[in-house]
Amino acid sequence: MLEYRNLKQRSLIMEKMWSGRFSEAASSLLDEFNASIMFDRELYQEDIEGSIAHATMLTEQGILNKDELESIKKGLAQVKEEIEAGEFTWELSDEDLHMAIEKRLTAIIGDTGKKLHTARSRNDQVAVDFRRYVLRKNKEIMSLIHALMTALHKVAGKHSETLIPGMTHLQHAQPTNFAFHLMAYGSMFKRDFERFEDSYRRNNISPLGCAALAGTPHNINRQSTANQLGFDSVSTNCLDTVSDRDFAIEILFNISMAMMHISRFAEEMILWSSYEFKFITFSDAYSTGSSIMPQKKNPDAAELLRGKSGRVYGNLMSLLTVMKGLPLAYNKDTQEDKEGVFDSVKTMEISLKILRESLLTLTVHEDNMKAACKVGHLSATDLADYLVEHCDIPFREAHFITGKAVAKSEELGIDLSDISYEELKAIDGRIEENVMPYMSIKHSMNARTSEGGTSTVRTIEQLAKFNSWLEENNSF
Ligand code: ARG
Repeated sequence: MLEYRNLKQRSLIMEKMWSGRFSEAASSLLDEFNASIMFDRELYQEDIEGSIAHATMLTEQGILNKDELESIKKGLAQVKEEIEAGEFTWELSDEDLHMAIEKRLTAIIGDTGKKLHTARSRNDQVAVDFRRYVLRKNKEIMSLIHALMTALHKVAGKHSETLIPGMTHLQHAQPTNFAFHLMAYGSMFKRDFERFEDSYRRNNISPLGCAALAGTPHNINRQSTANQLGFDSVSTNCLDTVSDRDFAIEILFNISMAMMHISRFAEEMILWSSYEFKFITFSDAYSTGSSIMPQKKNPDAAELLRGKSGRVYGNLMSLLTVMKGLPLAYNKDTQEDKEGVFDSVKTMEISLKILRESLLTLTVHEDNMKAACKVGHLSATDLADYLVEHCDIPFREAHFITGKAVAKSEELGIDLSDISYEELKAIDGRIEENVMPYMSIKHSMNARTSEGGTSTVRTIEQLAKFNSWLEENNSF
């Protein structure tokens, strides 16, 4: 905010690039309201690369000469250096980074700088810069998701026999193993990865050369700039292209979805780290203390992973709403696209790193997970399945008989997995002694051998598939 005010002061004395038809100076209040320079400098790399590609193409087309191109390239290299060294003066009156860079370029190289904007508008300029930023971030996020998935696979690899109660309605349901549980998140992160990849592919199209909205009479070559900037192709309709922010909305949605998955995972880990569960302990490095209660060790990292989903959903809603009533083509409302995306991208990146580290450094309390499986009659479905399979009893009736066995166990104050054969026989005479293995928790987990099921054998198979996918998808 402080920086913002200083910029405002300076702006009062600056002249505008578009001021030809104006006779009055802009209100300083409008300067402050209208400018994006406080935040769009994040795009400086893309802007400079875009300008070099554009100038190169203008030279290929005979619109600039070679000396002019060399001078522009040198000037832009200096601008880049100044920005990276923190020596660049960002003036609020320049409105946005595009004009600030062009102004500085002209100050360095003289009038040739003024030729750079031939056959270009800030509308296609910002479209190309922002799109390339979003594409770059898609890739960076994919690599962070991949690193998280690799860590998840590593931790899960140790726990394909570690029993943990599987739940529905947050009530004990059926025994599973911890690797199976972790790999459920692995499946979600894989879908997230593929979503970013898919968006990358769909949006890798060059807007440069669309100019303000309708193209340009100059003899440009859009394919050349597209090739130089690494785009797959050139956009089809200029009117759409300069006002299209689908790529930005897509990354906001992809981030929201991934953060929703992270939030669910964080919620489970918060529960697991409580005294009531005690399934895991977070390392000290990813926990915090209380200012008043000396004994406290709080899962703040996981809570923030859960909480930050709120802000990224907000950013998504915000841009969807900005865009929904806009007539074609560019409208200044569109400038509202950036801050939310920058914020969501940063939130996503740090969240993926924090989750990965938290996961790699936590301690798993296998005994507590196992002990929890002895509460809540987790082998009930197995008893019903036994009655169907071995006694030829219809499932509905088997369900009822099992209910009786559960009630008996409650009456005896034991878990169903510890009920005796005699008690079971008394409930239904068709039950034989071979029922006993079905009552074991481990047997129950390992019995679920259907494809995608929790048995250790199926879990190991799933881990192997996951690992092959990780290996096949490790180049971005
Ligand atoms: N700062 C503007 C933005 O981010 C750049 C495009 C401005 N174009 C215009 N015709 N005013 O959207």
